[in-house]
Amino acid sequence: MGSVVVVGSQWGDEGKGKIVDWLSERAEVIVRFQGGHNAGHTLVIDGVTYKLSLLPSGVVRPNKVSVIGNGVVLDPQALLSEIETVRAKGVEISPKTLKVAENVPLILSVHRELDQLREAASGAGAIGTTGRGIGPAYEDKVGRRAIRLSDLLDEASLALRIERLLAHHNALRVGFGAEPIAAATIAEELEAARPILAYADATYRILREARREGRNILFEGAQGSMLDIDHGTYPFVTSSNTVGGQAAAGSGVGPSSLGRILGITKAYTTRVGNGPFPTEQANAIGERMGERGAEFGTVTGRKRRCGWFDAVMVRQAVETGGIDGLALTKLDVLDGFDELKICVAYRLNGETLDRLPADGASQMNVEPVYETVSGWKRSTRGARSWGELPAEAVKYVRHVEELVGAPVAMLSTSPERIDTILVDDPFRI
Ligand code: GDP
Ligand code: IMO
Ligand code: MG
Repeated sequence: MGSVVVVGSQWGDEGKGKIVDWLSERAEVIVRFQGGHNAGHTLVIDGVTYKLSLLPSGVVRPNKVSVIGNGVVLDPQALLSEIETVRAKGVEISPKTLKVAENVPLILSVHRELDQLREAASGAGAIGTTGRGIGPAYEDKVGRRAIRLSDLLDEASLALRIERLLAHHNALRVGFGAEPIAAATIAEELEAARPILAYADATYRILREARREGRNILFEGAQGSMLDIDHGTYPFVTSSNTVGGQAAAGSGVGPSSLGRILGITKAYTTRVGNGPFPTEQANAIGERMGERGAEFGTVTGRKRRCGWFDAVMVRQAVETGGIDGLALTKLDVLDGFDELKICVAYRLNGETLDRLPADGASQMNVEPVYETVSGWKRSTRGARSWGELPAEAVKYVRHVEELVGAPVAMLSTSPERIDTILVDDPFRI
């Protein structure tokens, strides 16, 4: 009995959705605690693919409670359309099984547009965001002018809230050469968001109750440690804390309720969008990883950049996020390479570094120091036990554990739910 926090340990897309789906068999409540519909989590169950952005990845299992916590930024239209898409696949979603924090801040058209205006104006300095309005929505939350879900209930003050929001946004829009937006447009969007009130709740209470009754809670992170607003490759990051600690503040539970922190880790490295990537292979090796791993963004369809496993970076994620176990995914994508490289340190200006420096220029300029290990020829795809893995693959996994300083608790060998090896049950404390 316990709780588990699932986080990404690289630049996102590590396979969090698959692992959360698998683990959700053992949990009764599954909670998203940060990010928004910039996330794209893929589940494959008996050949059927589900792509989720806002709904927690436990939603496909019946009789589970899915919670969208206060730390998320919520685009109402995105949620309503995702609910419809998932329902069309036969998944039941009702106000009994889906709970949305009443204090969640909303993403509106002004946020999406500002995100896109800024990116367009940034030229070579663009972050390569998902364009979903995530950054601007978090800015408004911290700026104390966000409109939150519960504000829809207070019709008397809504007009004033819209006015305050637009006083800020219209000044920015004019600065960017865009037309100011009318209050009526936002009022209409908010009107269209009303159906979400059916799911609104004091979600922290639901979590507290679950804890009291000894039910397992699974916290589902989005993005990854290197996209964390504090610990990532700033400014090429997302606008929220993606590390495990955020699961507490972003859902309204105390840190002692979190349990184990499981870092989902791809057996190589990928990144979507711009920014430093020391082990990037913009060559035939990266192409091969991308093809075998089907590395195209779930949300934007962009081709993901690919490269060798960076043990320095993942060790840093283990340190900054308190990760105490790994779920290593996509090992099968490395099948067939004669040899594999693992980055074990960086070189910068004649010095050897055991961490990624904080400043952007150094992050761009570090040279990876590689160790070369032997690859394996036999397929690992679909392996469901250690015994099915070639000796070199087991060696690779063991080496990763040693280099990053955390044990492998789970191993994934294909997109399918069932192709998963459990080494050490993360719910067992
Ligand atoms: P998330 O954002 O961390 O949930 O990851 P995404 O779903 O965006 O990207 C991971 C991709 O890899 C998805 O297409 C998954 O179906 C797929 N995937 C997950 N685990 C494995 C695995 O072990 N092997 C292979 N080949 N694909 C996997
Ligand atoms: P999941 O949960 C990979 C990246 C974007 C961009 C940067 C900022 O599927 O792992 P944003 O729209 O958040 O302001 O974009 O962060 N990014 C992701 N990359 N996986 C994700 O989510 C991501 N969410 C955001 O590509 O570089
Ligand atoms: Mg993803």
